[in-house]
Amino acid sequence: MTHLFCTSVLSALCIAAFAADEQAGQPGGLAASVHAIFARSCAMCHGPQVEHPPNGFGYVLDLKRLVDGHDLVVPGEPGNSKLFQRITSGDPDEHMPPPSSSAQQLSTDEIETVRQWIAAGAPPLAGADETAALHGAQPAQRGASGSAAEWLGRWHVAVLHLPIGLLLAAALAQVVLLFAKGSAWLDGATRWCLWVGAPGAVISVLTGLVHAGYAGYADETVELHESLGITTCIVALVSLVGWEIAQRTGNRAIRLVSIVLLIAAAALVAAAGHTGGVMVFGASFLAWPW
Ligand code: HEC
Repeated sequence: MTHLFCTSVLSALCIAAFAADEQAGQPGGLAASVHAIFARSCAMCHGPQVEHPPNGFGYVLDLKRLVDGHDLVVPGEPGNSKLFQRITSGDPDEHMPPPSSSAQQLSTDEIETVRQWIAAGAPPLAGADETAALHGAQPAQRGASGSAAEWLGRWHVAVLHLPIGLLLAAALAQVVLLFAKGSAWLDGATRWCLWVGAPGAVISVLTGLVHAGYAGYADETVELHESLGITTCIVALVSLVGWEIAQRTGNRAIRLVSIVLLIAAAALVAAAGHTGGVMVFGASFLAWPW
């Protein structure tokens, strides 16, 4: 009997503890969900990386700051929160994200999640998440829910380093050869770098185009980045073809054209890489620190 009593009390305590834990976890979970929604649909215009955010509102990922001293989010009062009014507004001039932008609109469920979060007092993210959020990182849970195409698109971020490094190395080899005639082995290095770098540029562009469809970037930097990437790709491929023809025919004029194109491709890929950096980290990411 004592045994039974103890077991019951223990079970009741466990259930109570579990329930309390659930409740404690709830607002934090809401905050993480809301943060993920803002990261996807708002951060490209209101995120910390934007240099001149509209109306000076560039802290959509800082949930604490949304509440502190602003009317954007009034804890417990979705209807009085400017942010909530904007995402539910029927006026296309007011509605967020702007219907004219490529940013993904919020689903009815997501709007409800934002409402619940404000109604629950707009709690901030838990400690570590908050730090990651302020640095613009997206919460890990996003990774799990993406489609296969979205996943494929994210390879852009890894693959793009290949053409940047290799095309620059190939061009550098040819520049060195201008001054150090004896280094004929650099021709072989150039050819190898071109053979890996040019197809690397093709894969970067293809994954990049897929990525752009999901990442929701929307401004002219993206268009410039795309054009530079595609042009790099074409110029690098023509340079590779030229190199191979020159290799087989010994035609010096074609070889020269191929080298000029290679140097152009290196400049283009550097510019493409830079605009990519501006998109992710903001225009001042390479500014002098002093
Ligand atoms: C494509 C860029 C873009 C995206 C994406 C975007 N906004 Fe905006 N937002 C703007 C611009 C531009 C303004 C200023 C013009 C205006 O007030 O309508 C603005 C203004 C606002 C304001 C008013 C700020 C103030 O202090 O007056 C709020 C709130 C807002 N946006 C919330 C959001 C939320 C929430 C999202 C995501 C669900 C979002 N925005 C997505 C461009 C964007």
